[in-house]
Amino acid sequence: MFSKGLKGIIAAETMISQVDGENGELLYRGYEIKDLVKGKSFEEIAYLLWYGELPSSEQLDELKNTLIKNRYLPEHMIKILTTLPAEMDLMSVIRTCISAEGLQEYGWKPTVEQAIRLTSIIPIIISYRTRIVRGQEIITPSLELGHVANYLYMLEGKLPNAAHCEALEMYMILTLEHGMNASTFSARVTASTESEMISGITSAIGTMKGPLHGGAPAGVLAFLEEIDESEDSTIECIRKKIIKGERLMGFGHRVYKTLDPRAAALKAKLMELVGEDRWLDLAIEVEELSIKALEELKPGRSLYTNVEFYAAAIMKAIHFDPALFTPTFTASRVVGWSAHVLEQAEDNTIYRPESTYIGPKY
Ligand code: ACO
Repeated sequence: MFSKGLKGIIAAETMISQVDGENGELLYRGYEIKDLVKGKSFEEIAYLLWYGELPSSEQLDELKNTLIKNRYLPEHMIKILTTLPAEMDLMSVIRTCISAEGLQEYGWKPTVEQAIRLTSIIPIIISYRTRIVRGQEIITPSLELGHVANYLYMLEGKLPNAAHCEALEMYMILTLEHGMNASTFSARVTASTESEMISGITSAIGTMKGPLHGGAPAGVLAFLEEIDESEDSTIECIRKKIIKGERLMGFGHRVYKTLDPRAAALKAKLMELVGEDRWLDLAIEVEELSIKALEELKPGRSLYTNVEFYAAAIMKAIHFDPALFTPTFTASRVVGWSAHVLEQAEDNTIYRPESTYIGPKY
C-alpha cells in the first residue's frame, strides 16, 4: 500500500502520548494536557514522559538535581560555539553541538540519564550562542532556578519576569511531546538502526528545522507583520495569499482536523498575560478571518489554528527574538524525542519501508 507522506499509516505503538485529531485532545501518558498545564512544572511533566508516571516529591527533587548537575558544557563545545560563523542559524548550531557531545558514553542502549543530560544542555547551547553572537558575556547557569527560569536567566542575564517565565513554561510543557510527528519519527528511525541517542536527537533536530514543522512560528510572525503593514484589509490580504497558493503559517495540521488543543491553551494564557494588546488583537482577528477564508477557498480540508500560531504570539509577548522560536521548541521537544528513542529501544525493529519504482526500464 502506498500513502504519500505516510498519511494515515501507523508506524509504531506507543505508551507516550495520544493525539486525538478528531476531538482535539492530547494526552501525555494517559493524562489530558489541559489538566497537566495547571500548576505542574516542566520537570514534573518531563519525568512523566520519561518514566511513565508522575513523580513523588523525592523523585522530582532527584530529577531536578540531576538536571542541575548537568548544567555545564564541555570546553570543546564552548570552542565550537565561539568559532562557528556568526551567520550560521541557531538550529544548525544546536545540531552541530549535540553531534559533538561526548560520544563514548552514548552507546546502545539509550538511557534516561542521557535524555536528562541532553535536555539540560540544549538551553545552555542556545543561550551561550545567542549571547556570543550579540557580543555579550555568557551567563553561567544558575544552580538554583528551575529548568525554564534558568533558560530565561541565561538568555537575559537577570532573574526572569515571573509572568514571562510562567508563559514560557506553559508553552514548553505543551510542546514536549506530540506522537509520531516528523522529527520524532526521524529520531525513532535513527534509533531503530541501534545508533546511539545522540544520532537520534541530531536527526530529529535537522527535521525540526524545516518551515513546515518547527520553523513555522517565525513564519507566523512574518505573516502577522505582513498583514499589519499591508495596504489591503486583513481579509483581502489573507484571501490573496490562499489564492496565490501560499500556505498560511500556523494553520492546518496532519492530525488535528479541529482546533489544536495546545493553541487553545496558549491563547487563553496569552489573554491572561497581556490583556489589551495590539498584536494579540491582530492575532485573534487573523485567526478568525483565516479560518473563514480557508473554509471558503479550501473547503473540506478542515484547516484550523495549530500550536505554532499562538506560540509565535506568546514569544512576541515575552519579547523573544524570532531566531529563538524553533530552538526553544527544540529545547522542549527533546524530552519527547528521547522518550521515543527509549521506547523504540525497548522493542526494536528497524524501520525500512519500501518504494515503488516509477522510472524507466532499459
Ligand atoms: N494554508 C493554506 N492551505 C493549506 C494549509 C495552510 N496552512 N495547510 C494545508 N493547506 C491545504 C493544502 O494546500 C492542500 O490543498 P489542496 O487539497 O488544494 O492541494 C490541503 O490543504 C491539504 O494539504 P496537505 O499539505 O496535504 O496537508 P498535510 O496534512 O500534509 O499538511 C501541514 C500539514 C504541513 C502542517 C500543513 O497544514 C501546512 O503546511 N501548514 C502551514 C505550516 C505550519 O503551520 N506548520 C506547523 C504545523 S504544527 C507543527 O509541526 C508543530
